[in-house]
Amino acid sequence: MFGFRKKPETTLERVLPVHIAVKMDGNRRWAKQHHVPRQAGHVAGSEAFKTIARYCNKIGVQYLTVYAFSSENWKRSEDEVEGLMSLLRKNLRDVLTIFRDENIRTRFIGDRTRLDPQLRELMAETERVSADRTGLRLNIAINYGGRPELVDAARAIAQEVRDGTLSPDKITEDVFAAHLSTAGQPDPDLVIMPGAEKRISNFLLWQSAYAEYWFSDVLWPDFTPDVLEQAITDFNGRKRRFGGS
Ligand code: IPE
Ligand code: IPE
Ligand code: MG
Repeated sequence: MFGFRKKPETTLERVLPVHIAVKMDGNRRWAKQHHVPRQAGHVAGSEAFKTIARYCNKIGVQYLTVYAFSSENWKRSEDEVEGLMSLLRKNLRDVLTIFRDENIRTRFIGDRTRLDPQLRELMAETERVSADRTGLRLNIAINYGGRPELVDAARAIAQEVRDGTLSPDKITEDVFAAHLSTAGQPDPDLVIMPGAEKRISNFLLWQSAYAEYWFSDVLWPDFTPDVLEQAITDFNGRKRRFGGS
């Protein structure tokens, strides 16, 4: 009765998080470290993004959400914002070609209304050409913020109540989640925060309620599949309780 409990067999097989989210942070510090212009740091960061997205697709991750430009990033200098926007345009053109044979389905989350028409067109094109792909589902967050996303959801719900199509007592967590930009997707299991900062920065506030966080001092341009594997290994050692026992 009180004998030693046999330890459960450890299996060599690791569990892949279904949904990984990454705040791609630290580009400017990387540029400083390497004595190169700030924009070169952003370019190096976009290379890391392409490598990591393809790697996730290769190992069978189902969902990857990357934070590329926040709703607060407009506060940066005009010069930096323009550099980031032109890099996003370039990257989307790359994504259209490089990901052509990758079976990656790309979608965007965030408010598009403030983005220039050319970028918006590229986003629509990227979503259109990849809509039927069955591999990794990639969400790229551009002009995304968790708070604006929640406010938009509240506004849409209020409108439905006013229109008489939704009654207030029918507003559940599921209904709320269905009004977010990630509607229909599972919540992230693992949120990776490179760049040596320990803050959420308005990323997936609702969706990450029970995510496992993994912080790293590695600056985003230095982030490699090996570092991602470290995060996945660490994730495998976590005991997720979701408030239970
Ligand atoms: C992430 O790197 C890229 C964006 C936020 C667009 P940063 O530009 O924030 O670089 P650091 O964090 O200041 O080093
Ligand atoms: C968050 O990083 C946005 C992206 C990584 C795209 P920031 O660098 O803008 O966040 P803070 O200002 O350090 O919190
Ligand atoms: Mg930063």
